[in-house]
Amino acid sequence: MSIDGYLAGATADRLVLSNDEDFDRVDAVRSGCDAILVGAETVRKDNPRLLIRSDVRRNTRKARGVPPSPVKVTVTATGRLDPGARFFTMGDVEKLVYCASPALAEARHRVGTSATVVDGGPSVTMQRLTTDLHARGIGRLMVEGGAGVHTQFLTGDLVDELHLVVAPFFVGDSRARRFVGDGRFPWHPARRAELIDAGPIGDVVLLRYALSDRCRERQ
Ligand SMILES: NC(=O)c1ccc[n+]([C@@H]2O[C@H](COP(=O)([O-])OP(=O)(O)OC[C@H]3O[C@@H](n4cnc5c(N)ncnc54)[C@H](OP(=O)(O)O)[C@@H]3O)[C@@H](O)[C@H]2O)c1
Repeated sequence: MSIDGYLAGATADRLVLSNDEDFDRVDAVRSGCDAILVGAETVRKDNPRLLIRSDVRRNTRKARGVPPSPVKVTVTATGRLDPGARFFTMGDVEKLVYCASPALAEARHRVGTSATVVDGGPSVTMQRLTTDLHARGIGRLMVEGGAGVHTQFLTGDLVDELHLVVAPFFVGDSRARRFVGDGRFPWHPARRAELIDAGPIGDVVLLRYALSDRCRERQ
């Protein structure tokens, strides 16, 4: 996010917040995960590939007997997804779309065979989604935004560890999306999150917070 907490600018143009060194760190974190999730708006706006970039990391994963890149996951209430998006067209990996029941037909019609569209129930909850992912063998999920998705995972107390990277500039436009929206978060003045690491990566700063006992026990 920017110094003032924004994830993006107010225009349709993609805002680059991280630097190359941090993108490489993100690649390393991704390679240790079973799946990566982004919201449908991020698929539409950023058109991310969500693949491991490094050959070495892809080969290491293959040697571990897992696909070269993690499973891709998105969530939609409307089914408004473009099968031409890189989410669907790039990478020989499984792609899952969790879709609210009323839009299932629309989503299946749109994405065709390029992804598995899962019935997420009348309205998809992240609790239900993660339970279903677990049943599909996903143990470690990386959530990469945007704000709507962050807010639901955090307010739902479903996050083990938060990696927050602050870029050295301001966006200064409240039409843009902040890191999270409004909500009742489990961390507040009376229950402070535990900072487990902080440090510069070139001109950005990485803050890591342990948000669950499971994460604290791993430290
Ligand atoms: N800086 C970063 O690291 C970073 C990372 C990712 C994204 N971003 C930015 O964040 C912005 C997008 O964030 P956003 O908050 O607008 O969108 P988002 O969280 O990416 O996606 C929101 C969409 O996901 C679907 N969705 C979310 N929760 C759902 C639920 N419980 N049930 C069913 N569908 C659900 C809905 O899709 P439908 O509309 O299809 O129903 C909703 O409109 C973009 O500007 C992007 O550039 C920045």
